[in-house]
Amino acid sequence: ASSCLAGLLAAAFLLQGCAGVQSALDPSGDEAERIGFLTWLLIVFSTVVFVAVLLTATVAIFGRERWRARLAGEKLVVGAGIIFPITALTLLLGYGFYLMSLGSPTARQHGLRIEVVGEQWWWRVTYVDETGRRTESANEIRLPVGRPVEVELTSADVIHSFWVPRLAGKLDMIPGRTNVLTLYPTKPGVSRGQCAEYCGGPHALMSFYVIAMPEDEFAIWLKREAGDAAPTDQDHATGRALFLSTGCAACHAIRGTNARGTIGPDLTHVGARRSLAAATLENDVPAFVRWIRDGQHLKPENRMPPYEIFTDDELRQLATYLDELR
Ligand code: CUA
Repeated sequence: ASSCLAGLLAAAFLLQGCAGVQSALDPSGDEAERIGFLTWLLIVFSTVVFVAVLLTATVAIFGRERWRARLAGEKLVVGAGIIFPITALTLLLGYGFYLMSLGSPTARQHGLRIEVVGEQWWWRVTYVDETGRRTESANEIRLPVGRPVEVELTSADVIHSFWVPRLAGKLDMIPGRTNVLTLYPTKPGVSRGQCAEYCGGPHALMSFYVIAMPEDEFAIWLKREAGDAAPTDQDHATGRALFLSTGCAACHAIRGTNARGTIGPDLTHVGARRSLAAATLENDVPAFVRWIRDGQHLKPENRMPPYEIFTDDELRQLATYLDELR
């Protein structure tokens, strides 16, 4: 009974890999669904072949004389040893090429385009709508469901790789070159993406979330996102003043204020994102405090210098101001 329980537990652990926000086996996008199907097809096929080979080997070693003689027959050797593998592998390869050739429905006609630039160690995200209006954001991508969107990938420094396993295959981000990937979510939900090419230092902490939402909700969201930050009320005036006067604005932009830095992530609506520091931290006031004070410890080598100049009270004011930017 205990071995049975252990088996069940092992199966449960393995099946864990089939779910979750970053699992290629739990697709929620057009291309990922095809990749997922091909993966299962290959797993089932190789399992059948593996079991057949094991059975044959068992018979060859322990079987009766009569069975062993049959296994040594020329027909079986030629059929199962040469013709079968060649035919089966050719068919699978052909099917793989066929799936690849399907590509994704053309996205260009739908107007929306998203530019994503990989930077050490975060993602610059710019939405370009049908009128050509550009809206900059960072470290999170929102997409309309049921509509293919072209994502133009490039890099500002070294080679990164853009991979959202639940939506599509991965594609490298190469400096001086633009690679185009079509993302086509088939259902609403949250997926996680990860930089998939070692790019130095905190490469492992270069992640992001992709949120697929119904088309009408997406349109409303994009309109909001394109707008300026909400005017600051009295409670957050101190935090805002600290932000604008202590150097934050040299690297970060907040639309609707004098902060126009372009070196770091745009923070116009940072409080509305799911995560901070490229999916390194949850997004709440304590996380902002930790990040500003101790970013080099949380994400070693990241480009934001540590700010030890702030008192605890100032940090809280600053964090509360940023958290309110929604
Ligand atoms: Cu960017 Cu690894």
